[in-house]
Amino acid sequence: MSRARAAVILAAGQGTRMKSDLPKVLHQVGGRPMLDWAIAAVRGAGVSRIVVVVGRAAPALNAHVEKTLGANAVAVQDSPLGTGHAVRAAEPALADFDGDVVVLYGDGPLIQSPRIEELFAVRARSDGMVVLGFEAANPFGYGRLIVGSNGTLERVVEEKDASAAERAIILCNSGLVCADAKTLFRLLAMVKKNESKGEYYLTDVPAVGRAEGVVTRVTMADESETLGVNSRAELAQAEAVFQARARKAAMEGGATLIDPASVFFSYDTEIAPDVIVEPNVFFGPGVKIGKGARIKTSCRLEGAEVGPGVQLGPFAQLRPGAKLGPGSHIGNFVEVKNSNIGEGAKANHLAYVGDADVGPRANLGAGTITCNYDGFDKHRTTIGADAFIGSDTALVAPVTVGDGAYTGTGSVITKDVPAGALAVGRARQENIEGWADKNRARRQKKKDEKK
Ligand code: UD1
Ligand code: CA
Repeated sequence: MSRARAAVILAAGQGTRMKSDLPKVLHQVGGRPMLDWAIAAVRGAGVSRIVVVVGRAAPALNAHVEKTLGANAVAVQDSPLGTGHAVRAAEPALADFDGDVVVLYGDGPLIQSPRIEELFAVRARSDGMVVLGFEAANPFGYGRLIVGSNGTLERVVEEKDASAAERAIILCNSGLVCADAKTLFRLLAMVKKNESKGEYYLTDVPAVGRAEGVVTRVTMADESETLGVNSRAELAQAEAVFQARARKAAMEGGATLIDPASVFFSYDTEIAPDVIVEPNVFFGPGVKIGKGARIKTSCRLEGAEVGPGVQLGPFAQLRPGAKLGPGSHIGNFVEVKNSNIGEGAKANHLAYVGDADVGPRANLGAGTITCNYDGFDKHRTTIGADAFIGSDTALVAPVTVGDGAYTGTGSVITKDVPAGALAVGRARQENIEGWADKNRARRQKKKDEKK
């Protein structure tokens, strides 16, 4: 019988090194708050009971956790008295919980579910606790793991408290620890305040446990999973690790990235096989690309669905709610927002398509603009199947252009256009014969007279 699994995620620190008004764990990696990465990772390891420890003065964070996990998942740490103190704040929320708990830090967005699964598994088949360790290229700032001759963990020493010899140790503490919940809270109550920092360290638990006859084992992870983000520079490092993973996954899934290092993904980007992505493309959250589509250079997409066989870009922007039907073409300097582009429809150059429904095979000429906003409300434009919108047409929404209809180049369309009709909404051209020649002669004469 497997034991129940819970997680405590610490997020009550002040994150001062970020120099930000936004709580540290809400800073994003791959378009998703770091905290949400931690939540997803523990969920993937079969954890259903999650408690997030937040600070008193963090209403944005509090609201985020309530929205994501429900009010029961919030535990408030009154004052930031250290990681050990923070875990204790979660005790009331887990009072009725009997099973194993993993503690992790909300500023570690790269940890993967299999690693957490492994912690629970090692914990379940041995007594005592398990700490996740890693070998750091540069261990500065991390707690160091002091392992005894029998291979079990004797204690963790923080950078500040470490001797020169201890600082040379590269075996570091990731911050993840797994223990029987009751045992963990019992040991935490015995942790004394660290004198140098005036905090209660979670990392003192192994040493306290040892004195109580509770063994702590160490399992290992790669540094690319354990990076803790304390500064903007480390946030960028975490982002780089995520992007490397995402690029690899996209290529393994059958997409061609001509220059992988210049393509940026979000946590939820979905790319079908045989998609070709040219250099310098940014996928914001909520993007799906269908089979065989080509994303040409320098496009930005967010909240958009690109159908199979679509040609997009170069230099196109898809904003939330853009849905491109199969085989449609959206070309250079075209922006599409909250619009459905029908199968095989085209807007190849310099257009704004917002709040519109464009029928199949319709053609939007260069400079087509949907005037969707009147300063107060947004209105829809409907363009029928096979319609032909002349270049530089302004479609003043709400307005409908019927199936197969034409609009004359340069028209301002303010009234619905019936199917099959031609709408011309512009001043008629007038030619004044000889005017230019006469004008030239007159001006030249004046100029000559001045000399
Ligand atoms: C911590 C560990 C260190 C480990 C490193 C891994 C301690 C004492 N040290 O150091 O051994 O190598 O993480 O990245 O645990 N937090 C609270 N309440 C507090 C203090 C912190 O909730 O009072 C939260 C923070 O929001 C953060 C996490 O705990 O998510 C870790 O705190 P942080 O100050 O970043 O610890 P580190 O110095 O990185
Ligand atoms: Ca940290």
